[in-house]
Amino acid sequence: MPAGEPVPCRVTVCRGCCCGTSKVPGLDHDQQVADLARRVPTRVSECLDVCAQANVVVVQPSAAGRRAGGRPVWLGLVNDDAVLDDLTAWIDAGGPGIAVPPAVLDLYAIPRPPAGT
Ligand code: FES
Repeated sequence: MPAGEPVPCRVTVCRGCCCGTSKVPGLDHDQQVADLARRVPTRVSECLDVCAQANVVVVQPSAAGRRAGGRPVWLGLVNDDAVLDDLTAWIDAGGPGIAVPPAVLDLYAIPRPPAGT
C-alpha cells in the first residue's frame, strides 16, 4: 500500500495445520480465500493457535475503525459460504469500530487467544 493511503479494514485467513486442510471437510478452502480476496483485502497466515475453531478468520479494523475503538474480531468455524456475504458486507460498511456487525457473526465470534500460546 502506498504511503499516505488510509489503512483499510482487512481480513487474515488462517491456513495452518488445521484451517484450510482436509481436517475441515466439505469446503473448498482455496475458493474460500479466493472469494474473500476478490471482495476485501485479504492475507493468509500460518496457524493462529486456535485450531479447534478451524477455519479461523480475523477481521482487522481500518485505521479509522481503530481510532474509533475497533479491535480485531476473531471468528471461528467459518466453514460455510453464506457467512462470507455477511462478513464482507460488514467490512464494506466499515468493519470493527465503524459499523455494527450482522448479528449472525456473533455465532462465529471467538475470543482472541492469549499472547504467547
Ligand atoms: S491452523 Fe488455524 S488456528 Fe491452527
